[in-house]
Amino acid sequence: MATTRNHAPEIAPSILAADFSRLGEQIAALKQAGCRMLHVDVMDGHFVPNITVGVPVVASLRQATDLALDCHLMISEPDRYVEAFAEAGADMISVHQEATPHLERTLTAIRAAGCQAGAVLNPATPVATLSEVLEQVDFVLVMSVNPGFGGQKFLPRALDKLSQLSAWRADHGTDFRLEVDGGIGLENIGDVIRAGADIIVVGTSVFQGSDPARRFVELRRAASLATAEKA
Ligand code: DX5
Ligand code: ZN
Repeated sequence: MATTRNHAPEIAPSILAADFSRLGEQIAALKQAGCRMLHVDVMDGHFVPNITVGVPVVASLRQATDLALDCHLMISEPDRYVEAFAEAGADMISVHQEATPHLERTLTAIRAAGCQAGAVLNPATPVATLSEVLEQVDFVLVMSVNPGFGGQKFLPRALDKLSQLSAWRADHGTDFRLEVDGGIGLENIGDVIRAGADIIVVGTSVFQGSDPARRFVELRRAASLATAEKA
């Protein structure tokens, strides 16, 4: 068994799939259901073929909630915006390995700005490309879809990457968290947890129905079952 971690995994709803006209209300309901972290997908129409939200939305979220804000930057030249997202109220900031030529510098800047620093891997990027920074990250985000859109199909090779990273951190005695993002729902949340994920991003599956809070609770139950199996 690669990992010794068995504490409760965190489910981070991705607001990309939320009803933006009712965002405050939906977040309050999720918090009431026990949610502790929101995933904010920032896309620039350049690094990925879609445009979403930016710094002002993070600032508004910070005013509206005390949930941890996990900002996933799918943008080119992320270094230029790290400070602004930190000042707006981000708690965690992740940048793509593929988006910055100076990943070590970018991760250092995120920490200097007072946030937890995460490195993200696209589906086509091998785990080995992070080997030189794994000692310094707070978390690694494994993409289980190609970034840009919600509602895509889970790519199962992400499970192998989670296992590799899980084994690496056990072997090296390091403590970064493992996050996974894309195409996750009730049917496969157990698989990602068994492969070592600690933070599970869920967009469509949380927000597609009429009751995001109820779906959050169902996902958490499935997550707890899988965690207990691992123990
Ligand atoms: C994709 C985003 C994901 C996405 C997840 O680029 O990074 O966070 O919103 O949404 P689902 O759960 O619908 O795949
Ligand atoms: Zn994301």
